[in-house]
Amino acid sequence: MPFVSPDEISAPVVDAAQPQWRESIRRDFMQFRMQIQRECGDVVNLQMPHAHIHQITHPEDVAFILKNSGARFLKGSSWDHLRQMIGNGVITAEPPRWLEQRRALQPTFLRRYHDRFAARIAHSIEDTNTRWRAAVNDGKPIQVALEMAQLTLENAGHTLFDTDLRAHIPALSRDIIVVLNYLQGWFGYQTHKRILGGFVAGSRHQRYRRALKNLENIAGEIVRRRQDLRRQNESENHDLLAALLDSPRGENAKIVRDEMLTFLFTGHETTAMTISWTWHALAENPAVEERLHAELAGVLQGRIPTRADLPHLPFLRRVVSEVLRLYPPVWVLMRQTTQSETFRGVTIPAGANLSILPYVTHRHSDFWQRPETFDPQRFTPEKEAARAPGAYIPFGSGPRQCMGKHTALLETQLVIGGLAQHWKLRFAPGAQIKPVPGITLWPSQNLPMFLQPRIV
Ligand code: HEM
Repeated sequence: MPFVSPDEISAPVVDAAQPQWRESIRRDFMQFRMQIQRECGDVVNLQMPHAHIHQITHPEDVAFILKNSGARFLKGSSWDHLRQMIGNGVITAEPPRWLEQRRALQPTFLRRYHDRFAARIAHSIEDTNTRWRAAVNDGKPIQVALEMAQLTLENAGHTLFDTDLRAHIPALSRDIIVVLNYLQGWFGYQTHKRILGGFVAGSRHQRYRRALKNLENIAGEIVRRRQDLRRQNESENHDLLAALLDSPRGENAKIVRDEMLTFLFTGHETTAMTISWTWHALAENPAVEERLHAELAGVLQGRIPTRADLPHLPFLRRVVSEVLRLYPPVWVLMRQTTQSETFRGVTIPAGANLSILPYVTHRHSDFWQRPETFDPQRFTPEKEAARAPGAYIPFGSGPRQCMGKHTALLETQLVIGGLAQHWKLRFAPGAQIKPVPGITLWPSQNLPMFLQPRIV
């Protein structure tokens, strides 16, 4: 047991095994995390069957922890499930190695590379328009989350690895989902089951191992192809893969593997969820949708948006910001304390796992009025400037904040701007969509929606 001196106040304990909490968890896990913040405060010791964590939700504490990530707060053992997939890629690595990796890859995300990315996104909008026109009369809803995941995966392949992933997309998408779903439950599997289950035909453990092997094979193939081109002096690329191979550890096959899988994962699913939740929000808020349509029509008149259009589409940007507030794809950020810490007068021992919840902090009633209302006008420049640090953290903050933030915002705005001029998406009858907290925040049932063409 960690030592806590008798005059230190420890956090209120929520034992998830108690019947009243069990019922809450069963009904809606995200609502449960909101409920314990409302009823027990901003520092809660949450005891779940496979993890004991401290839930931290006050913006001031959140800002402090994120600012001091790397020195005082590590990523820690709560990331062990993702390390099964991506080893010590830049998102899971700890200092000092993390800093070296981040420095080597960071230049790839400079805005000067965004024009190339925007051109690629324009293609994906055209392809989607063509596909949706062919599908519109077949009477079936599309699965928005899966469609958007395929679109962003294809764009990531082009931009990060200069590789056309089209032939691999269905298999890649499926394998990524199998791996991430398995890892979500990873802490709950006993070690011997994880190991022995890999040999049991048809078991989830074996399905996971096969899917992970497939991902490794595709990543390996992309790297080999690039190395061949380089040997023949036929590659002058400045993409992520080039930066990776030229980095101080670029000779190390394990590191290259880890980073390739890291970016296959981080580089598309979160953006896909942002785009998907935007379709959801527009369908739920017709007045917002109408205003967005008017802005798009005024600026674009039906053409596909470019980067240069974005400063003239402020409402689009605010819609996306509000989507990221209510449906942050990264709904939880995990850290581990390296020393005893005090938040809100409550002491937490060294070695404790902290769970920062953008989903809850973004609805904190001391910082957001009518937090459940979808209102893009919260993101006017004046209101943004007045916001408390730590109150809005969809991309994290501090030294470990998202490397792909600008890339993701660019893609989300261009895709929504390009497609919403021509399409409305409407919920399939009877669909009750809830946020499902997997590794990212997915809409339940993959968000089934009907396509409605718009006449512009
Ligand atoms: C809307 C889309 C996205 C969201 C909401 C998002 C969110 C986040 C968040 C919250 C973190 C911080 C995690 C932590 O502090 O524990 C993070 C880290 C990271 N993200 Fe993103 N992300 C998005 C898109 C992307 C894209 C497109 C890429 C790459 C192309 C990317 C690459 C990364 C990397 C490499 C890190 C780790 C940074 C580090 O630890 O130094 N993300 N992201």
